[in-house]
Amino acid sequence: MDLSGKHIVLGLTGGIACYKAAELCRALVKEGATVQVVMTEAAGQFITPVTMQALSNRPVYDSQWDAREDNNMAHIILSREADAILIAPCSADFMAKLLHGRADDLLSLMCLARPIDKVPLLIAPAMNREMWAHPATQRNLAQLQVDGSVILGVGVGDQACGETGDGRMLEPLELLQDVIAFFQPKVLAGQHVLVTAGPTFEAIDPVRGITNLSSGKMGFAIARAAQEAGATVTLVAGPVSLPTPRGVTRIDVKSASNMLQTAVECAQKASIFIATAAVADWRPAQESDQKIKKDGSGQTPQLSFVENADILATVAQSARARSGALFCVGFAAESHDLLAHATAKRIRKGVPLLVGNIGPATFGKDDNALLLVDAAGASEMPRNSKLVLARQLVAEIAARLPTPLH
Ligand code: CTP
Repeated sequence: MDLSGKHIVLGLTGGIACYKAAELCRALVKEGATVQVVMTEAAGQFITPVTMQALSNRPVYDSQWDAREDNNMAHIILSREADAILIAPCSADFMAKLLHGRADDLLSLMCLARPIDKVPLLIAPAMNREMWAHPATQRNLAQLQVDGSVILGVGVGDQACGETGDGRMLEPLELLQDVIAFFQPKVLAGQHVLVTAGPTFEAIDPVRGITNLSSGKMGFAIARAAQEAGATVTLVAGPVSLPTPRGVTRIDVKSASNMLQTAVECAQKASIFIATAAVADWRPAQESDQKIKKDGSGQTPQLSFVENADILATVAQSARARSGALFCVGFAAESHDLLAHATAKRIRKGVPLLVGNIGPATFGKDDNALLLVDAAGASEMPRNSKLVLARQLVAEIAARLPTPLH
């Protein structure tokens, strides 16, 4: 569970998005966090403390005059225990209050009283689009960031008021991902990571083609882990139906040639390239522009193939990679003799790090086991979920990056 051991104070302020806070609370608890709910009086107009107590499994605090704590200082006790305070939903009014350091209710009092260096304040704004776009709100937003708050952004689309635009609260699962990401070490801050993922599709005619069983899950997990680690991430994906990890720029491609062109272009601004895609080795020499029909003779079509360019090797041989500005990582999907094949492949592809896995044991699955091979030797990453392995791999890559010259 991604939030085991974390204690989150979940603050609710007045807004219709309070209905989403119930689901958010549940999602945080399911990921292993303990959650202490603190509500403003206005939040109580939208959702009851009974609901939030049942979901968080703790009595809710909603008054600065609450005498439950022995020293009668709930604002001090609650803020000292927290690993983070998350205000979701955060109304325009509450943002203005935070900005001015006002402290006339328990939640704002607690935010002001929190040890600013130890207890981060995460804000999920929720309001009508005009309120969001208002210069006063935008000014407050900018200043809150200067003051050290983390703004988790807003969603776009239909609003409860019937209008459409920016300002609604992010969905509970989006906020959950943002909170999980917040706690990951920022080992790739400032890096630009390019990932290729999934299979490619090599067309035979407009309705048929050749592809493979890669699900793209490992590559998508790596893209997510790199984003969580603070990198700017571009994900070049073959045909897969996976959701795009939050904050990642995704470019969908089909064939190996599309993927090569896109990857080469994107690699020009990347500092790390991780090639997880299961690129088709061959494509039909000719793509028929019409569907190939049976002619009744029982004759099968004669297909001939040409080899696709090696995307990883091409990028690894680029001037940018050779100068040390681009760190390249390859994958090897093998069926047997993993160590020998991965060791040989690393040298053949000309990359500093190659990650081996057994294809049939990983394709389509949610877990995997990896073998890392570099110039110094090999080390194993035992079977785990692809996301956990992706985070470990990101840490291994970060540790191998050349130290910048000062
Ligand atoms: N790769 C690539 N472009 C290709 C083929 C492979 O970028 N045309 C990359 C893969 O993304 C992976 C690595 O090269 O990072 C190894 O891929 P793999 O399919 O295991 O190896 P191949 O190069 O195809 O070698 P072989 O078929 O001999 O195992």
